[in-house]
Amino acid sequence: MSAETVVINEVGLRDGLQNQPTPVPTEGKCRLAELLVDAGVRHMEATSFVSPKAVPQMADAGELIASLPRPDEVEYAALIPNEKGYERALEAGVRSVNVVLSATDTMNRKNIRMSLDETREVCKRIIARAHADGVRAHGYVAVAFECPYEGKVPLERVVDLTGEMFDNGADEVIIADTIGAAAPTAVYEGFTALASRFDVARLSAHLHDTRALALANSWAALQAGVRRFDSSIGGLGGCPFAPGAAGNTATEDLVLMLEQCGYRTGIDVPRLLDAVNLAAELTGRELGGRMLPWFLTRNKACAGDTDARAQSG
Ligand code: COA
Ligand code: ZN
Repeated sequence: MSAETVVINEVGLRDGLQNQPTPVPTEGKCRLAELLVDAGVRHMEATSFVSPKAVPQMADAGELIASLPRPDEVEYAALIPNEKGYERALEAGVRSVNVVLSATDTMNRKNIRMSLDETREVCKRIIARAHADGVRAHGYVAVAFECPYEGKVPLERVVDLTGEMFDNGADEVIIADTIGAAAPTAVYEGFTALASRFDVARLSAHLHDTRALALANSWAALQAGVRRFDSSIGGLGGCPFAPGAAGNTATEDLVLMLEQCGYRTGIDVPRLLDAVNLAAELTGRELGGRMLPWFLTRNKACAGDTDARAQSG
């Protein structure tokens, strides 16, 4: 039996860089994208078309989209909060947009200054426009497990909002644990419920590692049938409008786990680590998933073996 494929959507350039105190220049973002593509990444959320006053790190969205590498081979998506964002994205040539709706009213207001009901209407209109324009449209359901303002989110509400996104024509719905508060039990229960009602191939998991549970939560989602995941190179990530949100699942950890378990991601871990190094250089931060120390020690040991063999023979 051939290995099952898992789709990895790299979100470091958007979710990761939106929150960095040092803005990364467009050219640096492109170099990072290039290393990710070289490692085998074929799906990327590259930027967001949001207010540059609200998120200055994404102010170069249009310029970035125009200069990303190998656009014919890679699905580059952009997050958009409203119709103005959609129009900017369309003009920049984006072919895949992610609308964003939070599962609570307070989070919608804090994030994009609209009520939940207004956001539902905006998402509906944007998805319809995207379809008319031949653009793929994905919908986030953010704070799907717990909201930093309203606490635990009822699963039924997430099911209803997901259903509405699909009814509106979303090609995919991304269920996000935006602040990394979910436990594997809740993730399994949530995705099992969603998978019983919707096509699981069109559901995706976006998990944060705030409580060191992102990988366990990814495994729980995988067991519930999910085969699409957002993750972030080096574990970059966090939302400026959701207090307590830390980095996403590190792409290198997720890919290593999946490949070790026999799934196929098409991504090469050692090459991914070149992207981790560049992301660390660009942000001036120490980055890297939990597998990094093991990988570096193993590499050193392998290099040592090679030296010893060279000397002895
Ligand atoms: N892109 C760029 N500028 C935008 C914009 C967009 N998508 N939407 C609105 N603006 C501009 C308006 O043109 C206006 O500009 P001006 O002050 O020069 O006239 C200004 O922003 C205010 O417009 P308004 O419609 O009143 O927006 P707002 O102040 O209510 O802000 C958002 C709403 C959504 C634009 C803003 O909250 C935002 O960008 N938030 C970012 C959310 C985010 O990135 N979250 C993390 C990822 S989920
Ligand atoms: Zn996120």
